[in-house]
Amino acid sequence: MANDTAYLKVDGQEYELPIHKGTLGNPVIDVSAFQKAGYWTYDPGFKVTAPVESKITYINGEKGELLHRGYPIDQLADNAEYLEVCYALLHGDLPNAEQKADFYDKVLSHTGVHEQLRKFFEGFRRDAHPMAVMVGVVGALSAFYHDHLDVTDPKQRDITAIRLIAKIPTIAAMSYKYTKGEPFMYPRNDFNYAENFLYMMFATPADVDYKVDPVIARAMDKIFTLHADHEQNASTSTVRLTASTGANPYACIAAGIVALWGPSHGGANEAVLTMLDEIGSVDNVEEYMEKVKRKEVRLMGFGHRVYKNFDPRAKVMKETCDEVLGALGITDPKLELAMKLEKIALEDPYFVERNLYPNVDFYSGIILKAIGIPTSMFTVIFALARTAGWISHLLEMHSAPFNIGRPRQLYTGEVRSCIHKLKSP
Ligand code: CMC
Repeated sequence: MANDTAYLKVDGQEYELPIHKGTLGNPVIDVSAFQKAGYWTYDPGFKVTAPVESKITYINGEKGELLHRGYPIDQLADNAEYLEVCYALLHGDLPNAEQKADFYDKVLSHTGVHEQLRKFFEGFRRDAHPMAVMVGVVGALSAFYHDHLDVTDPKQRDITAIRLIAKIPTIAAMSYKYTKGEPFMYPRNDFNYAENFLYMMFATPADVDYKVDPVIARAMDKIFTLHADHEQNASTSTVRLTASTGANPYACIAAGIVALWGPSHGGANEAVLTMLDEIGSVDNVEEYMEKVKRKEVRLMGFGHRVYKNFDPRAKVMKETCDEVLGALGITDPKLELAMKLEKIALEDPYFVERNLYPNVDFYSGIILKAIGIPTSMFTVIFALARTAGWISHLLEMHSAPFNIGRPRQLYTGEVRSCIHKLKSP
């Protein structure tokens, strides 16, 4: 329902553009009248375009605020488990005790993958990047569950979400084990979600009595929560766009994994560690910062399209990072280097003037390294956690009438009237 009206005056005609107000955030101008006027809107990078209405997540970039189903992210990270957050993203609110037991039970009973799926791994080079493996193997799930293409059936939508959330840690751990040349570990349902992932990553068949450090398991669970969803970012928009064609949901999630991989998005956590390696020592930080300011390189883990004050996920991640490093008594020269970089960047006018603050990936890279996760798995862990957000958005879209996503363009190519070129001698 429109709350107000904007007016477009073009070619001597005036058009009414309804303004819609959400519960929070900037109002949106409904530009469908542009079609009648014979114009398209032009917005490279979708900086001011809202292609959807959504009830899942809200971000206020100026205030550094992130809400899932109305709850602030710091409260969720401190008081809820990741699977409770998944439930909220999917179903609109945190679960009561009965809903929680039922949801956890369903997730735990779907953690295994079909034995045939193991064969897909063998097609990859043993040194394949785990994200490449994830793209292929998650995409391959579509061959196993093609019946769930009926997006109009709520039961099929629900089971798709459960399967994805349950199986993605198993596939993620397998993608690591494969590149390490170790046997895959079957999921253990006596562990909780984070413990089970750490077990599948780090245990070997010889570890009959494998114990997961509770500090690490809690930190892992928090890392999952902090990455669970982030509104209409590049990967979520990719999932929505692919799903708008009615494509198989598992294949759509694979498309999200592809979009996430880039260093401007989820690949930044890995890029932070690569950058720290390149800088090498605290003595080289100032010289590296000069390169950043000359725009020869970007400071990975800094800046965000939406957050122009601070990234609330980074705040919680930094606290978790301090907690974990303290509890495990870890000291690492890389961490010292990261802290020096952070300090300089937070004070330097180049960063201050452009509102460039550490984002979630700056600290997540450091904490993941501290708890023993190999660098090549950082983006995989982001993808694992974000699967809940992707599938929630996909299901939100499929639970109401939707259009295929089909943007327009500003064509600036040639206009030719005939093909002389091919005919000339
Ligand atoms: N290092 C140095 N300069 C930067 C950086 C950076 N990390 N980020 C932006 N700038 C500068 C940029 O050069 C530009 O300067 P000027 O105004 O002089 O031309 C200004 O800041 C605005 O940059 P922009 O490219 O218009 O900003 P954007 O909103 O398009 O880009 C971003 C956002 C995340 C792609 C970018 O900040 C970036 O590349 N950051 C590093 C990669 C990174 O950490 N990505 C993870 C994002 S958080 C995880 C997630 O949610 O995906």
